[in-house]
Amino acid sequence: MILVLDFGGQYNQLIARRVREAHVYCEVHPSSLTLDAIKDMAPKGIILTGGPQSVYKQDAQTAPKELFELDIPILGICYGSQLMAHVLGGKVETAPVSEYGRTDVTIEDRSSILFKNVSPKTVVWMSHTDYIAAVPEGFTVTAKTENCPVAAYENPAKKLYATQFHPEVLHTAEGTKMLDAFVREVCETAGSWRMDSFVEQTVTALREKIGSGKVLCALSGGVDSSVAAVLLSKAVGRQLTCVFVDHGLLRKNEGDEVASVFGESGHYDLNFIRVDAKERFYAKLKGVTEPEAKRKIIGEEFIRVFEAEAKKIGAVDFLVQGTIYPDVIESGLGASAVIKSHHNVGGLPDYVDFKEIVEPLRLLFKDEVRAAGRELGIPEYLVARQPFPGPGLGIRIIGDVTEEKVKIVQEADAIYREEVDAAGVGKTLGQYFAALTNMKSVGVMGDGRTYDYAIALRAVMTSDFMTAEAAEIPWPVLTKVANRIVNEVKGVNRVLYDCTGKPPATIEFE
Ligand code: XMP
Repeated sequence: MILVLDFGGQYNQLIARRVREAHVYCEVHPSSLTLDAIKDMAPKGIILTGGPQSVYKQDAQTAPKELFELDIPILGICYGSQLMAHVLGGKVETAPVSEYGRTDVTIEDRSSILFKNVSPKTVVWMSHTDYIAAVPEGFTVTAKTENCPVAAYENPAKKLYATQFHPEVLHTAEGTKMLDAFVREVCETAGSWRMDSFVEQTVTALREKIGSGKVLCALSGGVDSSVAAVLLSKAVGRQLTCVFVDHGLLRKNEGDEVASVFGESGHYDLNFIRVDAKERFYAKLKGVTEPEAKRKIIGEEFIRVFEAEAKKIGAVDFLVQGTIYPDVIESGLGASAVIKSHHNVGGLPDYVDFKEIVEPLRLLFKDEVRAAGRELGIPEYLVARQPFPGPGLGIRIIGDVTEEKVKIVQEADAIYREEVDAAGVGKTLGQYFAALTNMKSVGVMGDGRTYDYAIALRAVMTSDFMTAEAAEIPWPVLTKVANRIVNEVKGVNRVLYDCTGKPPATIEFE
Protein backbone atom coordinates (compact mmCIF):
# COMPACT_ATOMS: atom_id res chain seq x y z
CA MET A 1 0.00 0.00 0.00
CA ILE A 2 1.10 3.54 -0.80
CA LEU A 3 -0.11 6.22 1.58
CA VAL A 4 -0.94 9.64 0.17
CA LEU A 5 -0.91 12.34 2.85
CA ASP A 6 -3.21 15.13 1.78
CA PHE A 7 -2.16 18.72 2.39
CA GLY A 8 -5.17 20.16 0.58
CA GLY A 9 -3.90 20.20 -3.00
CA GLN A 10 -6.32 20.10 -5.91
CA TYR A 11 -4.79 17.02 -7.44
CA ASN A 12 -4.76 14.62 -4.47
CA GLN A 13 -7.25 12.20 -6.01
CA LEU A 14 -5.26 12.24 -9.22
CA ILE A 15 -2.17 11.05 -7.36
CA ALA A 16 -4.12 8.10 -6.00
CA ARG A 17 -5.42 7.35 -9.50
CA ARG A 18 -1.93 7.31 -10.99
CA VAL A 19 -0.60 5.04 -8.27
CA ARG A 20 -3.43 2.60 -8.84
CA GLU A 21 -2.81 2.74 -12.56
CA ALA A 22 0.66 1.46 -11.72
CA HIS A 23 -1.24 -1.47 -10.13
CA VAL A 24 -0.33 -0.53 -6.60
CA TYR A 25 -3.01 -0.12 -3.97
CA CYS A 26 -3.18 3.36 -2.53
CA GLU A 27 -5.12 5.35 0.06
CA VAL A 28 -5.49 9.08 0.67
CA HIS A 29 -5.52 10.27 4.28
CA PRO A 30 -5.47 13.72 5.88
CA SER A 31 -2.03 15.13 6.67
CA SER A 32 -2.99 15.10 10.35
CA LEU A 33 -2.67 11.29 10.50
CA THR A 34 -0.50 10.42 13.52
CA LEU A 35 2.90 8.79 13.27
CA ASP A 36 1.58 5.76 15.17
CA ALA A 37 -1.30 5.35 12.75
CA ILE A 38 1.13 5.56 9.86
CA LYS A 39 3.40 2.95 11.44
CA ASP A 40 0.40 0.64 11.94
CA MET A 41 -0.53 0.95 8.28
CA ALA A 42 3.03 0.03 7.32
CA PRO A 43 2.87 1.59 3.86
CA LYS A 44 5.54 0.71 1.30
CA GLY A 45 5.84 4.39 0.47
CA ILE A 46 4.38 7.81 1.29
CA ILE A 47 3.49 10.66 -1.03
CA LEU A 48 3.06 14.18 0.35
CA THR A 49 0.67 16.15 -1.84
CA GLY A 50 0.59 19.76 -2.88
CA GLY A 51 -1.38 22.33 -0.91
CA PRO A 52 -2.30 26.00 -0.91
CA GLN A 53 -0.26 27.13 2.11
CA SER A 54 3.26 28.40 2.78
CA VAL A 55 5.37 26.11 4.95
CA TYR A 56 6.79 29.01 6.96
CA LYS A 57 3.35 30.38 7.98
CA GLN A 58 2.40 29.69 11.55
CA ASP A 59 -0.76 27.67 11.00
CA ALA A 60 0.57 25.72 8.01
CA GLN A 61 -0.09 21.97 7.93
CA THR A 62 3.16 20.25 8.70
CA ALA A 63 4.81 16.89 9.31
CA PRO A 64 7.09 15.80 12.15
CA LYS A 65 10.78 15.28 11.45
CA GLU A 66 10.34 11.64 12.55
CA LEU A 67 8.15 10.99 9.52
CA PHE A 68 11.30 11.26 7.41
CA GLU A 69 13.16 8.87 9.71
CA LEU A 70 10.80 5.90 9.45
CA ASP A 71 12.88 4.32 6.69
CA ILE A 72 9.80 4.48 4.44
CA PRO A 73 10.38 5.99 0.98
CA ILE A 74 8.79 9.44 0.64
CA LEU A 75 7.98 11.54 -2.40
CA GLY A 76 7.08 15.16 -1.73
CA ILE A 77 5.14 16.94 -4.47
CA CYS A 78 4.91 20.76 -4.69
CA TYR A 79 3.95 21.82 -1.12
CA GLY A 80 5.11 18.35 -0.06
CA SER A 81 8.55 19.04 -1.53
CA GLN A 82 8.76 22.40 0.22
CA LEU A 83 7.65 20.84 3.48
CA MET A 84 10.34 18.17 3.26
CA ALA A 85 12.96 20.88 2.64
CA HIS A 86 11.62 23.05 5.45
CA VAL A 87 11.42 20.26 8.07
CA LEU A 88 14.85 18.83 7.22
CA GLY A 89 16.72 22.15 7.36
CA GLY A 90 16.56 23.49 3.80
CA LYS A 91 15.30 26.94 2.87
CA VAL A 92 11.87 27.82 1.42
CA GLU A 93 11.11 31.37 0.28
CA THR A 94 8.68 33.33 -1.83
CA ALA A 95 9.88 32.81 -5.40
CA PRO A 96 11.03 35.95 -7.23
CA VAL A 97 9.05 34.64 -10.21
CA SER A 98 6.17 32.28 -9.55
CA GLU A 99 5.57 29.60 -12.13
CA TYR A 100 2.18 28.45 -13.27
CA GLY A 101 1.35 26.02 -16.07
CA ARG A 102 3.49 24.13 -18.55
CA THR A 103 7.19 24.71 -17.88
CA ASP A 104 10.37 23.38 -19.50
CA VAL A 105 12.56 21.49 -17.09
CA THR A 106 16.13 20.27 -17.39
CA ILE A 107 17.01 17.00 -15.73
CA GLU A 108 20.36 17.52 -14.03
CA ASP A 109 20.93 13.99 -12.84
CA ARG A 110 19.73 11.23 -15.11
CA SER A 111 21.06 8.56 -12.80
CA SER A 112 18.18 9.43 -10.45
CA ILE A 113 15.72 6.53 -10.30
CA LEU A 114 12.91 9.02 -10.82
CA PHE A 115 14.31 10.35 -14.07
CA LYS A 116 16.29 7.54 -15.59
CA ASN A 117 13.76 6.92 -18.39
CA VAL A 118 12.87 10.59 -18.81
CA SER A 119 14.19 12.87 -21.61
CA PRO A 120 16.97 15.32 -20.58
CA LYS A 121 14.61 18.20 -21.30
CA THR A 122 10.93 17.68 -20.69
CA VAL A 123 7.75 19.59 -19.93
CA VAL A 124 6.21 19.66 -16.45
CA TRP A 125 3.19 21.27 -14.79
CA MET A 126 4.14 23.91 -12.24
CA SER A 127 1.89 25.79 -9.84
CA HIS A 128 3.79 27.55 -7.06
CA THR A 129 4.57 30.92 -5.54
CA ASP A 130 7.13 29.66 -2.99
CA TYR A 131 10.28 27.86 -4.02
CA ILE A 132 13.11 25.93 -2.44
CA ALA A 133 16.10 28.23 -2.20
CA ALA A 134 18.39 25.65 -0.59
CA VAL A 135 18.04 21.89 -0.20
CA PRO A 136 18.73 20.23 3.18
CA GLU A 137 22.13 18.77 3.88
CA GLY A 138 22.74 15.43 2.21
CA PHE A 139 20.36 16.16 -0.67
CA THR A 140 21.22 16.88 -4.31
CA VAL A 141 19.32 18.87 -6.91
CA THR A 142 18.19 16.64 -9.78
CA ALA A 143 16.19 19.03 -11.98
CA LYS A 144 15.76 22.76 -12.52
CA THR A 145 13.83 25.23 -14.67
CA GLU A 146 14.70 28.75 -15.78
CA ASN A 147 13.08 30.30 -12.72
CA CYS A 148 13.27 27.45 -10.27
CA PRO A 149 16.72 26.32 -9.13
CA VAL A 150 15.27 23.29 -7.33
CA ALA A 151 12.62 21.67 -9.52
CA ALA A 152 13.51 18.27 -8.04
CA TYR A 153 15.89 17.02 -5.34
CA GLU A 154 16.61 13.81 -3.52
CA ASN A 155 18.56 11.80 -1.01
CA PRO A 156 18.53 8.29 -2.51
CA ALA A 157 20.32 6.72 0.49
CA LYS A 158 17.39 7.80 2.68
CA LYS A 159 14.86 7.13 -0.12
CA LEU A 160 13.58 10.69 0.07
CA TYR A 161 12.52 12.33 -3.22
CA ALA A 162 10.81 15.57 -4.10
CA THR A 163 9.48 17.42 -7.12
CA GLN A 164 8.35 21.04 -7.15
CA PHE A 165 6.17 20.20 -10.18
CA HIS A 166 3.16 17.88 -10.37
CA PRO A 167 4.01 14.52 -11.96
CA GLU A 168 0.42 13.34 -11.47
CA VAL A 169 -1.02 15.88 -13.91
CA LEU A 170 -1.13 14.75 -17.53
CA HIS A 171 0.40 18.06 -18.67
CA THR A 172 3.62 16.76 -17.12
CA ALA A 173 4.54 14.85 -20.25
CA GLU A 174 6.59 12.13 -18.56
CA GLY A 175 5.02 12.31 -15.11
CA THR A 176 3.63 8.80 -15.23
CA LYS A 177 7.14 7.39 -15.73
CA MET A 178 8.37 9.36 -12.71
CA LEU A 179 5.54 8.20 -10.45
CA ASP A 180 5.85 4.63 -11.68
CA ALA A 181 9.57 4.71 -10.92
CA PHE A 182 8.94 5.95 -7.39
CA VAL A 183 6.11 3.55 -6.66
CA ARG A 184 7.56 0.45 -8.26
CA GLU A 185 11.33 0.85 -7.91
CA VAL A 186 11.98 3.11 -4.93
CA CYS A 187 9.12 1.61 -2.89
CA GLU A 188 9.74 -1.88 -4.27
CA THR A 189 6.07 -2.71 -4.73
CA ALA A 190 4.93 -5.77 -6.65
CA GLY A 191 2.39 -3.98 -8.84
CA SER A 192 -0.15 -6.74 -8.42
CA TRP A 193 -3.25 -4.67 -7.57
CA ARG A 194 -5.70 -5.89 -10.22
CA MET A 195 -9.47 -6.01 -10.46
CA ASP A 196 -9.60 -9.80 -10.39
CA SER A 197 -7.69 -9.86 -7.11
CA PHE A 198 -9.90 -7.07 -5.75
CA VAL A 199 -13.04 -8.98 -6.63
CA GLU A 200 -11.75 -12.22 -5.17
CA GLN A 201 -10.51 -10.61 -1.94
CA THR A 202 -13.69 -8.59 -1.49
CA VAL A 203 -15.94 -11.61 -1.96
CA THR A 204 -13.93 -13.54 0.64
CA ALA A 205 -13.94 -10.62 3.08
CA LEU A 206 -17.70 -10.07 2.65
CA ARG A 207 -18.37 -13.75 3.24
CA GLU A 208 -16.40 -13.65 6.50
CA LYS A 209 -18.00 -10.43 7.70
CA ILE A 210 -21.58 -11.41 6.91
CA GLY A 211 -21.47 -15.02 8.04
CA SER A 212 -25.05 -16.25 8.02
CA GLY A 213 -26.55 -12.72 8.31
CA LYS A 214 -29.30 -11.26 6.16
CA VAL A 215 -28.44 -8.48 3.72
CA LEU A 216 -30.65 -5.85 2.09
CA CYS A 217 -29.70 -3.78 -0.95
CA ALA A 218 -31.57 -0.98 -2.72
CA LEU A 219 -30.85 -1.65 -6.36
CA SER A 220 -31.32 1.23 -8.78
CA GLY A 221 -29.88 -0.33 -11.91
CA GLY A 222 -27.07 2.24 -11.85
CA VAL A 223 -23.45 1.09 -12.01
CA ASP A 224 -22.59 1.34 -8.33
CA SER A 225 -25.58 -0.46 -6.86
CA SER A 226 -25.40 -3.15 -9.58
CA VAL A 227 -21.75 -3.93 -8.90
CA ALA A 228 -22.30 -3.87 -5.13
CA ALA A 229 -25.25 -6.26 -5.50
CA VAL A 230 -23.32 -8.73 -7.64
CA LEU A 231 -20.35 -8.74 -5.24
CA LEU A 232 -22.72 -9.56 -2.39
CA SER A 233 -24.55 -12.16 -4.39
CA LYS A 234 -21.22 -13.89 -5.11
CA ALA A 235 -20.37 -13.73 -1.43
CA VAL A 236 -23.61 -14.77 0.28
CA GLY A 237 -26.11 -15.75 -2.45
CA ARG A 238 -29.69 -15.96 -1.21
CA GLN A 239 -28.93 -14.25 2.10
CA LEU A 240 -29.10 -11.12 -0.06
CA THR A 241 -32.36 -9.45 -1.05
CA CYS A 242 -32.32 -6.67 -3.60
CA VAL A 243 -35.25 -4.31 -3.74
CA PHE A 244 -35.66 -2.46 -7.00
CA VAL A 245 -38.13 0.41 -6.73
CA ASP A 246 -39.45 1.18 -10.20
CA HIS A 247 -40.77 4.71 -9.80
CA GLY A 248 -41.95 4.93 -13.38
CA LEU A 249 -39.37 7.64 -14.04
CA LEU A 250 -36.67 5.44 -15.55
CA ARG A 251 -35.40 5.56 -19.12
CA LYS A 252 -37.12 3.53 -21.80
CA ASN A 253 -36.94 -0.23 -21.06
CA GLU A 254 -34.61 0.35 -18.10
CA GLY A 255 -36.87 -1.32 -15.54
CA ASP A 256 -37.15 -4.46 -17.67
CA GLU A 257 -33.41 -4.49 -18.31
CA VAL A 258 -32.65 -4.40 -14.60
CA ALA A 259 -35.22 -7.12 -13.94
CA SER A 260 -33.86 -9.33 -16.72
CA VAL A 261 -30.33 -9.14 -15.32
CA PHE A 262 -31.14 -9.49 -11.61
CA GLY A 263 -34.52 -11.24 -11.60
CA GLU A 264 -35.34 -14.94 -11.90
CA SER A 265 -34.34 -15.04 -15.56
CA GLY A 266 -30.91 -13.54 -14.78
CA HIS A 267 -27.95 -15.58 -13.70
CA TYR A 268 -27.26 -14.19 -10.24
CA ASP A 269 -28.01 -15.98 -7.04
CA LEU A 270 -30.07 -13.52 -4.98
CA ASN A 271 -33.65 -12.64 -4.04
CA PHE A 272 -34.93 -9.92 -6.32
CA ILE A 273 -38.02 -7.82 -5.62
CA ARG A 274 -39.26 -5.39 -8.23
CA VAL A 275 -41.79 -2.95 -6.87
CA ASP A 276 -43.91 -1.34 -9.54
CA ALA A 277 -44.69 1.92 -7.77
CA LYS A 278 -45.29 4.21 -10.70
CA GLU A 279 -48.92 4.97 -9.88
CA ARG A 280 -47.92 6.04 -6.36
CA PHE A 281 -45.22 8.35 -7.67
CA TYR A 282 -47.38 9.87 -10.42
CA ALA A 283 -50.17 10.49 -7.90
CA LYS A 284 -47.81 12.26 -5.48
CA LEU A 285 -46.30 14.34 -8.27
CA LYS A 286 -49.62 15.43 -9.73
CA GLY A 287 -49.65 19.17 -10.34
CA VAL A 288 -46.24 19.77 -8.72
CA THR A 289 -44.04 21.99 -10.87
CA GLU A 290 -41.19 23.25 -8.70
CA PRO A 291 -38.06 21.11 -9.31
CA GLU A 292 -36.85 21.05 -5.73
CA ALA A 293 -40.36 20.08 -4.54
CA LYS A 294 -40.39 17.23 -7.09
CA ARG A 295 -37.02 16.02 -5.85
CA LYS A 296 -38.24 15.99 -2.25
CA ILE A 297 -41.43 14.12 -3.13
CA ILE A 298 -39.60 11.49 -5.17
CA GLY A 299 -36.93 11.03 -2.49
CA GLU A 300 -39.54 10.71 0.28
CA GLU A 301 -41.74 8.35 -1.66
CA PHE A 302 -38.74 6.21 -2.58
CA ILE A 303 -37.95 5.78 1.09
CA ARG A 304 -41.60 4.98 1.92
CA VAL A 305 -41.77 2.27 -0.73
CA PHE A 306 -38.42 0.82 0.21
CA GLU A 307 -39.39 0.86 3.87
CA ALA A 308 -42.65 -1.01 3.16
CA GLU A 309 -40.72 -3.74 1.34
CA ALA A 310 -38.07 -3.88 4.04
CA LYS A 311 -40.79 -4.39 6.64
CA LYS A 312 -42.06 -7.44 4.75
CA ILE A 313 -38.56 -8.91 4.87
CA GLY A 314 -38.20 -8.15 8.57
CA ALA A 315 -35.05 -7.21 10.44
CA VAL A 316 -31.83 -7.54 8.47
CA ASP A 317 -28.25 -7.59 9.65
CA PHE A 318 -26.66 -5.54 6.92
CA LEU A 319 -27.71 -2.75 4.59
CA VAL A 320 -25.64 -2.28 1.44
CA GLN A 321 -24.53 1.16 0.31
CA GLY A 322 -22.82 1.97 -2.96
CA THR A 323 -20.44 4.58 -1.53
CA ILE A 324 -17.37 4.97 -3.72
CA TYR A 325 -13.90 6.30 -2.95
CA PRO A 326 -14.29 9.95 -4.00
CA ASP A 327 -17.20 10.21 -1.50
CA VAL A 328 -15.00 8.70 1.21
CA ILE A 329 -12.15 11.10 0.55
CA GLU A 330 -14.51 14.07 0.45
CA SER A 331 -16.25 13.25 3.68
CA GLY A 332 -12.94 12.39 5.36
CA LEU A 333 -11.67 15.85 4.60
CA GLY A 334 -14.90 17.54 5.54
CA ALA A 335 -15.17 19.04 2.06
CA SER A 336 -18.42 20.84 1.41
CA ALA A 337 -21.28 18.79 0.05
CA VAL A 338 -22.88 18.97 -3.34
CA ILE A 339 -25.37 21.61 -4.40
CA LYS A 340 -28.82 20.05 -4.88
CA SER A 341 -30.78 17.78 -2.61
CA HIS A 342 -29.29 14.73 -4.26
CA HIS A 343 -31.40 11.66 -4.04
CA ASN A 344 -29.47 8.58 -3.04
CA VAL A 345 -29.65 5.79 -0.53
CA GLY A 346 -27.73 7.89 2.00
CA GLY A 347 -31.05 8.73 3.67
CA LEU A 348 -32.18 5.15 4.17
CA PRO A 349 -30.58 3.95 7.40
CA ASP A 350 -33.03 5.90 9.59
CA TYR A 351 -35.95 3.98 8.19
CA VAL A 352 -34.78 0.41 8.00
CA ASP A 353 -34.14 -2.03 10.79
CA PHE A 354 -30.54 -3.14 10.33
CA LYS A 355 -27.38 -3.55 12.40
CA GLU A 356 -24.55 -2.48 10.15
CA ILE A 357 -23.78 -0.92 6.78
CA VAL A 358 -21.59 -2.66 4.22
CA GLU A 359 -19.89 -0.60 1.56
CA PRO A 360 -18.06 -2.98 -0.74
CA LEU A 361 -17.01 -0.25 -3.22
CA ARG A 362 -15.67 2.28 -0.77
CA LEU A 363 -12.12 1.82 -2.03
CA LEU A 364 -12.82 2.22 -5.73
CA PHE A 365 -12.90 5.09 -8.17
CA LYS A 366 -15.78 5.18 -10.65
CA ASP A 367 -13.94 3.58 -13.54
CA GLU A 368 -12.55 0.96 -11.17
CA VAL A 369 -16.17 0.18 -10.22
CA ARG A 370 -16.86 -0.31 -13.92
CA ALA A 371 -13.79 -2.53 -14.27
CA ALA A 372 -14.94 -4.62 -11.30
CA GLY A 373 -18.37 -4.88 -12.93
CA ARG A 374 -16.81 -6.22 -16.13
CA GLU A 375 -14.72 -8.65 -14.11
CA LEU A 376 -17.95 -9.84 -12.49
CA GLY A 377 -19.55 -10.40 -15.89
CA ILE A 378 -22.23 -7.70 -15.58
CA PRO A 379 -23.54 -6.81 -19.07
CA GLU A 380 -21.72 -3.93 -20.76
CA TYR A 381 -24.85 -1.79 -21.15
CA LEU A 382 -25.23 -1.75 -17.35
CA VAL A 383 -21.55 -1.29 -16.61
CA ALA A 384 -21.05 1.54 -19.09
CA ARG A 385 -24.27 3.30 -18.16
CA GLN A 386 -23.99 7.08 -17.94
CA PRO A 387 -24.90 8.80 -14.69
CA PHE A 388 -28.63 9.04 -14.12
CA PRO A 389 -30.14 11.10 -11.31
CA GLY A 390 -32.04 9.27 -8.59
CA PRO A 391 -35.24 11.31 -9.23
CA GLY A 392 -34.97 10.16 -12.84
CA LEU A 393 -37.07 11.63 -15.59
CA GLY A 394 -39.11 13.41 -12.93
CA ILE A 395 -36.56 16.21 -13.10
CA ARG A 396 -36.06 16.00 -16.87
CA ILE A 397 -39.63 17.09 -17.39
CA ILE A 398 -40.08 20.80 -16.83
CA GLY A 399 -43.31 21.56 -15.03
CA ASP A 400 -45.70 18.93 -13.75
CA VAL A 401 -45.10 15.24 -14.39
CA THR A 402 -47.71 13.11 -16.12
CA GLU A 403 -47.60 9.61 -17.54
CA GLU A 404 -47.98 11.05 -21.05
CA LYS A 405 -44.99 13.36 -20.58
CA VAL A 406 -42.88 10.52 -19.19
CA LYS A 407 -43.63 8.47 -22.34
CA ILE A 408 -42.66 11.40 -24.58
CA VAL A 409 -39.33 12.02 -22.90
CA GLN A 410 -38.56 8.28 -22.73
CA GLU A 411 -39.10 7.86 -26.48
CA ALA A 412 -37.19 11.01 -27.44
CA ASP A 413 -34.30 10.13 -25.14
CA ALA A 414 -34.09 6.59 -26.52
CA ILE A 415 -33.87 7.91 -30.11
CA TYR A 416 -31.23 10.46 -29.14
CA ARG A 417 -29.07 7.90 -27.35
CA GLU A 418 -29.46 5.40 -30.17
CA GLU A 419 -28.31 7.87 -32.83
CA VAL A 420 -25.46 9.34 -30.79
CA ASP A 421 -24.18 5.84 -30.07
CA ALA A 422 -24.62 4.73 -33.70
CA ALA A 423 -22.57 7.73 -34.82
CA GLY A 424 -19.81 6.69 -32.40
CA VAL A 425 -19.97 10.03 -30.58
CA GLY A 426 -21.17 8.75 -27.19
CA LYS A 427 -17.82 7.65 -25.82
CA THR A 428 -16.42 11.19 -25.92
CA LEU A 429 -19.34 12.63 -23.94
CA GLY A 430 -19.74 12.93 -20.19
CA GLN A 431 -23.53 12.77 -20.34
CA TYR A 432 -26.24 13.15 -22.98
CA PHE A 433 -29.98 12.96 -22.72
CA ALA A 434 -33.28 14.47 -23.81
CA ALA A 435 -35.50 16.59 -21.59
CA LEU A 436 -39.07 17.74 -22.09
CA THR A 437 -39.52 21.48 -22.00
CA ASN A 438 -42.93 22.57 -20.84
CA MET A 439 -43.23 24.78 -23.88
CA LYS A 440 -45.80 24.18 -26.60
CA SER A 441 -45.51 25.97 -29.91
CA VAL A 442 -47.09 25.96 -33.32
CA GLY A 443 -45.86 23.68 -36.07
CA VAL A 444 -47.10 22.30 -39.33
CA MET A 445 -47.33 18.63 -40.16
CA GLY A 446 -48.85 17.30 -43.35
CA ASP A 447 -51.29 20.04 -44.12
CA GLY A 448 -52.33 20.63 -40.56
CA ARG A 449 -51.38 22.94 -37.75
CA THR A 450 -49.88 21.37 -34.64
CA TYR A 451 -49.50 22.81 -31.17
CA ASP A 452 -47.07 20.50 -29.41
CA TYR A 453 -44.13 20.22 -27.02
CA ALA A 454 -40.48 21.04 -27.67
CA ILE A 455 -37.81 18.52 -26.68
CA ALA A 456 -34.43 19.82 -25.53
CA LEU A 457 -31.31 17.79 -26.27
CA ARG A 458 -28.38 18.10 -23.90
CA ALA A 459 -24.83 16.75 -24.26
CA VAL A 460 -21.87 17.78 -22.14
CA MET A 461 -18.18 17.11 -21.88
CA THR A 462 -16.97 16.87 -18.32
CA SER A 463 -14.54 14.91 -16.24
CA ASP A 464 -15.77 15.72 -12.75
CA PHE A 465 -19.42 16.73 -13.33
CA MET A 466 -18.78 19.88 -11.27
CA THR A 467 -18.14 21.93 -14.40
CA ALA A 468 -19.04 21.03 -17.96
CA GLU A 469 -19.01 22.35 -21.50
CA ALA A 470 -21.78 21.84 -24.02
CA ALA A 471 -20.53 19.26 -26.53
CA GLU A 472 -20.34 19.81 -30.29
CA ILE A 473 -22.50 17.03 -31.63
CA PRO A 474 -22.06 16.80 -35.42
CA TRP A 475 -24.88 18.64 -37.17
CA PRO A 476 -25.96 15.66 -39.31
CA VAL A 477 -26.43 13.62 -36.13
CA LEU A 478 -28.51 16.37 -34.53
CA THR A 479 -30.73 16.83 -37.58
CA LYS A 480 -31.27 13.10 -37.88
CA VAL A 481 -32.26 12.93 -34.20
CA ALA A 482 -34.58 15.94 -34.60
CA ASN A 483 -36.25 14.37 -37.66
CA ARG A 484 -36.76 11.06 -35.98
CA ILE A 485 -38.14 12.62 -32.80
CA VAL A 486 -40.75 14.79 -34.52
CA ASN A 487 -41.74 11.90 -36.79
CA GLU A 488 -41.79 9.11 -34.24
CA VAL A 489 -42.79 10.75 -30.96
CA LYS A 490 -46.39 11.87 -30.79
CA GLY A 491 -46.85 15.22 -29.09
CA VAL A 492 -43.52 16.78 -30.17
CA ASN A 493 -43.11 19.21 -33.07
CA ARG A 494 -39.84 20.95 -32.25
CA VAL A 495 -36.34 19.95 -31.07
CA LEU A 496 -33.86 22.36 -29.45
CA TYR A 497 -30.19 21.91 -28.57
CA ASP A 498 -28.88 23.27 -25.26
CA CYS A 499 -25.56 25.10 -25.82
CA THR A 500 -25.06 26.19 -22.21
CA GLY A 501 -22.15 25.13 -20.04
CA LYS A 502 -22.06 24.52 -16.29
CA PRO A 503 -21.85 27.07 -14.81
CA PRO A 504 -24.10 28.96 -15.43
CA ALA A 505 -26.52 26.10 -16.21
CA THR A 506 -26.43 22.70 -14.52
CA ILE A 507 -25.93 19.43 -16.35
CA GLU A 508 -29.46 18.30 -15.65
CA PHE A 509 -32.24 20.24 -17.38
CA GLU A 510 -34.65 20.69 -14.54
P1 XMP B 1 -26.01 18.86 -12.10
O1 XMP B 1 -27.35 18.90 -12.76
O2 XMP B 1 -26.07 19.22 -10.64
O3 XMP B 1 -25.58 17.34 -12.14
O4 XMP B 1 -24.99 19.66 -12.85
C1 XMP B 1 -24.29 16.86 -11.86
C2 XMP B 1 -24.32 15.36 -11.98
O5 XMP B 1 -25.10 14.79 -10.92
C3 XMP B 1 -26.16 14.00 -11.44
N1 XMP B 1 -27.31 14.19 -10.56
C4 XMP B 1 -27.70 13.31 -9.63
N2 XMP B 1 -27.22 12.10 -9.28
N3 XMP B 1 -28.89 11.90 -7.64
C5 XMP B 1 -27.83 11.40 -8.29
O6 XMP B 1 -27.42 10.28 -7.97
C6 XMP B 1 -29.43 13.11 -7.93
O7 XMP B 1 -30.39 13.54 -7.32
C7 XMP B 1 -28.80 13.85 -8.97
N4 XMP B 1 -29.04 15.07 -9.54
C8 XMP B 1 -28.11 15.26 -10.49
C9 XMP B 1 -26.38 14.54 -12.85
O8 XMP B 1 -27.00 13.56 -13.67
C10 XMP B 1 -24.97 14.85 -13.26
O9 XMP B 1 -24.29 13.68 -13.66
